[in-house]
Amino acid sequence: QAFFKPIQRAGLPSPAKRHTKISVIGAGNVGMAIAQTILTQDLADEIVLIDAKADKLRGEMLDLQHAAAFLPRTKINASVDYEFTVGSDLCIVTAGARQNPGESRLDLLQRNVALFKNIIPPLARFSPDTILLIVSNPVDVLTYVSWKLSGFPSNRVIGSGTNLDSSRFRFLIADHLDVNAQDVQAYIVGEHGDSSVALWSSISVGGVPVLSFLENQQIAYEKVTLEKIHKEVVDSAYEVISLKGYTSWAIGYSVANLARSILRDQRKIHPVSVLANGFYGIEGGDVFLSLPAQLGRGGVLGVTNVHLTDEEAKRFRDSANTILDVQSQLGI
Ligand code: NAI
Ligand code: LAC
Repeated sequence: QAFFKPIQRAGLPSPAKRHTKISVIGAGNVGMAIAQTILTQDLADEIVLIDAKADKLRGEMLDLQHAAAFLPRTKINASVDYEFTVGSDLCIVTAGARQNPGESRLDLLQRNVALFKNIIPPLARFSPDTILLIVSNPVDVLTYVSWKLSGFPSNRVIGSGTNLDSSRFRFLIADHLDVNAQDVQAYIVGEHGDSSVALWSSISVGGVPVLSFLENQQIAYEKVTLEKIHKEVVDSAYEVISLKGYTSWAIGYSVANLARSILRDQRKIHPVSVLANGFYGIEGGDVFLSLPAQLGRGGVLGVTNVHLTDEEAKRFRDSANTILDVQSQLGI
């Protein structure tokens, strides 16, 4: 017995709605924070959760499905079988080991590269046109590894990079100046990690460049304060991990923000990990580092030529060399 009496739809072409499918690989703290935020923000028609732990997967899937009455209608599936990802518009990879207290992101390299050799090829096979959004750490190196293993053009392989670091930077600046973080423009570039680079000249509040404002107002140049804020950003993850064991909520919102820009073709600029060869004198090999990049349905649409001072450019190159040194030992 149909619940609804069919109505004549003569002359009403059904709107050709594109079905948007996102796969989240790794249903841990980060993967589930991302999935939950994507659901809440109605970014997909279908979400597929992939993990190695079948029971955890099913539990997470059921728990999210039970919220259906409070969420936009979204098909939620979960499997250990990568075939379920077929035809994904976006594949978000969070699978892998996370830092124990005191461990650096680079300490995770060997364990997670080994995992990626089993994760990336099936994703590329089942969704040859997808965009890969890499989150697992060390994210810059694993984005390079994903690019090599997938054989995709570099515009379709993106690392979440310093989108999260820049959000932390904006929060701390906003907190210091008692303004809304959404009115603070500020970029951190380079490695998502200990060698990240704060672009002081990029900081503006409500369109007012902070550094020139301070100088024009003869306010004692708060370079010490700004450097303290950048150090707080670099230390953020270590502090949160020492307190709660992992980070999840900020990265969840950060990655959902990137997914929106990509899937809704927002052509928005985000600091994300992109193939950075040739920028600011980087040479000596293929390396992914964060730069302000325009994101849309085709992935990376362009990378901005943001101004870096000589010191910032040198630190950016040092960040690149750190990553290249690590990559040279991978044999990929
Ligand atoms: P977690 O341990 O909670 O989750 C990792 C998940 O990966 C587990 O559920 C595990 O079963 C799964 N997994 C392991 N091997 C797998 C495989 N071969 N196939 C599919 N799934 C597999 O860890 P958490 O806290 O979610 O962190 C995940 C990763 O994200 C870590 O590498 C962490 O460092 C990184 N991360 C990156 C951030 C960034 O800004 N780029 C921020 C926060 C975390
Ligand atoms: C963070 C680490 C875990 O920045 O990458 O949260």
